[in-house]
Amino acid sequence: MPTFSFSTERPTTRSVDLLVLPVFEGPTAGPGVSDVKGLDLLGLYEASGARGKRGEFLLVPNTGVEGLEAKAVLLLGVGSRDDADADACRRAIGRVAPKLSKRASIATTLPQIVRGRLTEDAIQATVEGLVLGSHRFDRYKSSSDGRGSALKEVEILGAGRTDAKAAKAAKVAIERGQVIAESQAWARDLVNTPALDLPPAELAREAQKMAKEVGITCKIWTETELKKGGFGGILGVGQGSVRPPRMIELRYTGGAKGAPIAFTGKGIAFDSGGLSIKDATGMEWMKSDMGGAASILGTMRAIALLKPRVNVIAAIPSAENMPSGSAIRPGDVLHHRGGTTSEVLNTDAEGRLVLADALAYLAEQKPKVIIDTATLTGACMIALGSDVWGAMGNDTDLIDDVLAAGDEAGEPGWELPMHEPYRKLIDSDIADIKNIGKRYGGAITAAMFLREFVGDTPWVHLDIAGPAFSDRVGDYYPKGATGSPVRTLVRYVLSKSSGTRR
Ligand code: BES
Ligand code: ZN
Ligand code: MN
Repeated sequence: MPTFSFSTERPTTRSVDLLVLPVFEGPTAGPGVSDVKGLDLLGLYEASGARGKRGEFLLVPNTGVEGLEAKAVLLLGVGSRDDADADACRRAIGRVAPKLSKRASIATTLPQIVRGRLTEDAIQATVEGLVLGSHRFDRYKSSSDGRGSALKEVEILGAGRTDAKAAKAAKVAIERGQVIAESQAWARDLVNTPALDLPPAELAREAQKMAKEVGITCKIWTETELKKGGFGGILGVGQGSVRPPRMIELRYTGGAKGAPIAFTGKGIAFDSGGLSIKDATGMEWMKSDMGGAASILGTMRAIALLKPRVNVIAAIPSAENMPSGSAIRPGDVLHHRGGTTSEVLNTDAEGRLVLADALAYLAEQKPKVIIDTATLTGACMIALGSDVWGAMGNDTDLIDDVLAAGDEAGEPGWELPMHEPYRKLIDSDIADIKNIGKRYGGAITAAMFLREFVGDTPWVHLDIAGPAFSDRVGDYYPKGATGSPVRTLVRYVLSKSSGTRR
């Protein structure tokens, strides 16, 4: 991880390996480009055929240009000036991040593209884009060729903001971006780790290790304790696997008065579908079915390090959904925490069964709100595609807050309706509810199943089946886990805190 700093010096004076200067679509010069005299940077950029589209870059070596200290300049397209927001910073630098990480030192004016001024959000997003864009999962590559980052120093340049207050704010934004991006990258690593190496007990150990490092409390519920506590959903889903289930309970006390924000996330170590088994293509990426759990763990890590004045708890259920002689069968009835019973008509609708117990457990603690994240339904992917998560809940303000946080963090969500007539689709003939509805509206009936367990606690469910995992390269992530929506959740928590404890 490089050291980030903030400077108000002129870009030309920075003696770094690479000076990264933005270019708007046109192309027209972005902040810092025309400071370089004696070299027509924009002319060179245009002559190369680049137009300033996001990520379009030209590397110009410094062949002894007078008054230019950097060894080279990277002209980086950021798209249209009208769309120049924090997310444009994140995406543009994310695109070239793997290239930048080969240099030892860089400096950039990139955050200045936002309305010609330096905003804290733009600084934070620039740091996030750089960290997330260069992060790779190469633990399972036997050769170390081209691995690791050479980047030691990153200087964020802020024009004309020499006052101490601006410098302090920039420093806070840098640290925030760094912590959030590192936590999101860690969540990615958990999701990318093959299920072979990350059974529920191992995920729990990772959580415990993290909790110790950042100084929050962690309690791991074993199978025996889950039995005693009446967590029939987690146990039922986990009983087909030789690798027993767990529940991870985390607690961050931010010195604030009042009830905590509560999180839970679906932690299915591997989703084979169980006896209602998936086909081979359906199973291909099901190591990622703990993406919800990972996003909550990443969020808790970031919160512990940023220390906002707010209390946060999390209860994360983890089980492996496997077919075997000991697996639950279609038609079985499970007894959830709190007493609600569910008829399991399809063992592949397992996420709601484990979340039910965790939601009921969290609701008992009377939190302010409950937020859950889950790779819950293929139906949500059909509805919203791979970039957008679905939001469903019982409280308009909470839903709006989380949607706003997602927009601001560059992780957009969209609300799906809790259309009440669909509720009867999960009526069961023999139990309180059944775990599947009709084929259509599957994301909504899944959310309605979850709603049964939160009582009157304000609650929102984020179906992240689409955004959690990507089969294509993005602006600031390679194929595989994205770590979404860690940035959204951290942003939500920070927006609900009254300052920090530091
Ligand atoms: N983990 C899957 C949902 C999923 C599918 C996530 C594809 C990411 C990509 C979930 O457990 C599941 O199998 N859902 C079923 C529910 C159905 C049986 C009611 C689905 O969506 O098909
Ligand atoms: Zn699943
Ligand atoms: Mn499933």
